[in-house]
Amino acid sequence: MKIEPARRVRGRLRLPGDKSISHRAGIIAALAEGTTRIENFSTSRDCAATLACLSQLGVRIARRGTSVRIEGVGLEGLRAPAAMLDCGNSGSTMRMLAGVLAGQDFVSGLTGDDSLRSRPMKRIIEPLELMGARITSEEGRAPLRIEGRQPLKAITYRMPVASAQVKSCVLLAGLLAEGRTEVIEEGGPTRDHTERMLDWLGVPLTKGRAQAGDAVSEVFAINGPVKFKARDLIIPGDISSAAFFIAAAAMRPGSELLIEDVGLNPTRSQIVSTFGELHAGVLIDERRAVCNEAVGTIRVRGAGGLAPVREGQSNILRGSLIPQLIDELPMLAVVGTQVLGGLRIHDAKELRVKESDRINATVENLRRMGASVEEYEDGLRVSGPTRLRGATLDSYGDHRIAMAFTVAALLAEGESEIIGAECASVSFPEFFQLLETLIER
Ligand code: S3P
Repeated sequence: MKIEPARRVRGRLRLPGDKSISHRAGIIAALAEGTTRIENFSTSRDCAATLACLSQLGVRIARRGTSVRIEGVGLEGLRAPAAMLDCGNSGSTMRMLAGVLAGQDFVSGLTGDDSLRSRPMKRIIEPLELMGARITSEEGRAPLRIEGRQPLKAITYRMPVASAQVKSCVLLAGLLAEGRTEVIEEGGPTRDHTERMLDWLGVPLTKGRAQAGDAVSEVFAINGPVKFKARDLIIPGDISSAAFFIAAAAMRPGSELLIEDVGLNPTRSQIVSTFGELHAGVLIDERRAVCNEAVGTIRVRGAGGLAPVREGQSNILRGSLIPQLIDELPMLAVVGTQVLGGLRIHDAKELRVKESDRINATVENLRRMGASVEEYEDGLRVSGPTRLRGATLDSYGDHRIAMAFTVAALLAEGESEIIGAECASVSFPEFFQLLETLIER
């Protein structure tokens, strides 16, 4: 993909449904009793993988564009798949489905592409084995062979990594377990779409706090097994997809962008506050709730010249902010090149085990564009403001790297080329086409 710099970004748009919420909608609707109609389902390849796996498990799914109809089979209605379930590039599909498969009375297999087969799965194998499933893996990586157990045993699980995928995996297994399953988020709070969706469906889920020394963690508990009825769902626009357009507009003076019906769940919308901390003209209005998720309109007025509101402090992203911004960090590193005083990111080691090593991929590409960057084990530091130059960049087969560096290329002097940019379709197939309609050169 060749990308020319942009003068400004202008327009009004609505985005396809949130990827995280769509995965959950598919899986949870499959376990419900009755038919669920889902509107604005994600167009991502990842969510298509989730639906394909569910079909292989005997769930009847009819899809017309972004409208999906799922005939739920209840907690015990899934059938043994005839072949390995292919999760493609999708960590969410593999980790969340594993929680459901652990509670079935059959054996199933989960696999994925080269990237997914290199990602850590011990984090879900451990709790699911404690619940009574038997899982074999390639030294903690997929392919996974899951020998389910019905019913699973309830456990209290202290989650060491801040991962919503792991939390959701254990909570979904908890739906199928006998007794009270508890997940303690010791690594810090993560996105809570699963909890909100279960609550929307009337599944009793309690939320509390646990204290160990000085540290306070959130605890989620579910008393299984819990049968529940289907209820229709509307998926808000994907804020992580919106983030690329917001960034492009915020960094280009004269830009004006209006994004309607975007998901503004507080565990995801930190990106809006982070732009606020950088004096970017990003505002929210028409806030409302849809199916237990916050939704609203984001308006961006690009002024360029990003500078921290509180000098020093807003130049560092770390600690409990990191899980709230996890998918936006490569793009924020790009934004950091335009911020007075640059930007540092710490406590983000998880980025090394995403679809690519996102710390390394970001550092390498920023260096190719002439930025001054330092790489840390748990993050990076970029200097700013810097003029980026057009370069040949590598997506590393990672959708968010491809899109983050498309945004960088819009700012650069001269043309850039992104190798393997088509991987953007893993989360956002319409990205390049939509961007083209918004750019003024
Ligand atoms: C996701 C959680 C995050 C995120 C991923 C989607 C989810 O992963 O990076 O894109 O839908 O729960 P982790 O849970 O591994 O941090």
